[in-house]
Amino acid sequence: MSTHIGAQMGQIAPYVLMPGDPYRARWIAETFLEDPVQYNDVRGMLGYTGTYRGVRVSAQGSGMGQPSIGIYAHELFADYDVQAILRVGTCGALAESVHVRDVILGMAASTDSAMNRPRFGDVTFAPAADFELLRHAWDVAQDKLLPAVVGGLFSSDQFYNPNTTISSTLAGYGVLGVEMEAAALYTLAAQFGRRALAVCTVSDHLLTGEETTSAERQETFEDMIVMALEAVVR
Ligand code: ADE
Repeated sequence: MSTHIGAQMGQIAPYVLMPGDPYRARWIAETFLEDPVQYNDVRGMLGYTGTYRGVRVSAQGSGMGQPSIGIYAHELFADYDVQAILRVGTCGALAESVHVRDVILGMAASTDSAMNRPRFGDVTFAPAADFELLRHAWDVAQDKLLPAVVGGLFSSDQFYNPNTTISSTLAGYGVLGVEMEAAALYTLAAQFGRRALAVCTVSDHLLTGEETTSAERQETFEDMIVMALEAVVR
């Protein structure tokens, strides 16, 4: 057991898909994995392990925000020898070129979080995705004609951000979407010498105000999970 995950060593697969919502972890396990076994319910942060095309894969909830994903990703890397974490979630679009239902593969993650200050002091670390995972996810999207785009994410500590200009400033620097976890995940993967990728479907558009319906979110979420799982087994 680690501090926040009630699994024995060996119960968690080397590859972990990580949605924010623990019920999504259960849904991923029940929908896509063969013989899923639940290994965690501490704090209701459900985790399951099964197989996908013969490869062991886990689905583990992260909760919302960087402190929460930071705890779970740290323990998966440090205590369970997890080799790769793919965050699967939603994001808001910042760029005109990106549309709701697109999937953003997060190449890098800017952040307004102070979480990395104790690590790096005055240096601004650039959290980045694992190239192989990114390339595999991109290849899957091309093969399956899924609407993927590759670019920067903004991992914000604020869902309701009173600073309304920051989104357009970042969009001006080519950042495609805003979410709340990727920068912490990429930083921890770098710390432990492991691999990470954030795969995010666009649920809302900050420029146009467009939003997906819950039926659309379900459908695009399914496409995204297939993209992430196929990237793992490639
Ligand atoms: N996740 C989905 N939409 C978001 C938004 N607008 N801001 C932050 N995280 C999000």
